[in-house]
Amino acid sequence: NDKRESYLIGFSQAMTTDNWRKEMNKSMLVETSMHPDLKLEVKDAKNDVQRQIEQIDEFISKGVDVLIVSPIQSVPITPVIEKAMDSGIPTIIIDRKIEGRNFTAYIGANSTEIGRNAAKYIISHAQDSTKVIEITGLQGSSPAYDRSAGFRQTLDSIASIKISHTINGDWEKASIKKTLNKLLLSGLTPDYIFAHNDRMALGAWEVAKSKNLQDRIKIIGVDGLFGPSGGIQLVKDKVLDATVLYPSGGAEAIKLASLLLQGKNVNKNNILNTVIIDSVNVDIMQNQFNKMNEQQNDIEQQQRVIEEQVATYKSQRNLVKMMIGL
Ligand code: FRU
Repeated sequence: NDKRESYLIGFSQAMTTDNWRKEMNKSMLVETSMHPDLKLEVKDAKNDVQRQIEQIDEFISKGVDVLIVSPIQSVPITPVIEKAMDSGIPTIIIDRKIEGRNFTAYIGANSTEIGRNAAKYIISHAQDSTKVIEITGLQGSSPAYDRSAGFRQTLDSIASIKISHTINGDWEKASIKKTLNKLLLSGLTPDYIFAHNDRMALGAWEVAKSKNLQDRIKIIGVDGLFGPSGGIQLVKDKVLDATVLYPSGGAEAIKLASLLLQGKNVNKNNILNTVIIDSVNVDIMQNQFNKMNEQQNDIEQQQRVIEEQVATYKSQRNLVKMMIGL
């Protein structure tokens, strides 16, 4: 590998409407700014599978040095990833998975473990005879499948806990409100709702509140995002009983890309840690994230100062060149 001055990373992002994905993009950009030899181009598929395939194709034609993809769904995105690999582009899959193993590296938390964590939380808190509703993410996207599998396997052996209903959502809260509303109106009051992410969990709480059931139904979400409307705040506000942390892995993906470009070997599976966040540890988690956020702001501030210095230096140098007639 001859070292080049600059490398282009192409990132195909599933969508950017929600804060979790905004955080992923931001952490990628911040990490990229720490590697002077890296440039990052982000294409937003806007939750449209066909568009995502086209955008990945554009990255292939352009000959990006590393491709990063967060697939909307597994099956339809797999062939174009294989095409990228066949044309020699190292490809990192982040968050949602594809089919098979034809990619360079995967990074993300273990969603089966996330489902298991949610189930264990219910097991350790539940009284006798517990009714649960599960609200799933988009069918065909791997975290929905994995979270459900882990959740069900763990609850399977517990006779006193029953998943009475499953609502198929699409990761956004609008997708689940009608069905949940009907279920609650029919007289069913579950003890727990496990929603595959915090946005749908918040939607579930809104429906429960409209029936004045918010104190009877305990709701568990996933993501545990930091910030004003994130899952951590929702646990603090007692809207959610708990959430399971699902880190975006944006910074780590760029680090992996950088290692690949240096010709280093990387692990095929890079699994990020997850943890349950409830009233016991929510303050600790919030403090941790506060500190990290301050540090990140410091870094961004520093980057801006450096950029300004570089710009001033360049213009001074041009001035000197002009004066001495170069
Ligand atoms: C963000 C999101 C998260 C969820 C993840 C699963 O778009 O819906 O809330 O954890 O995608 O891939």
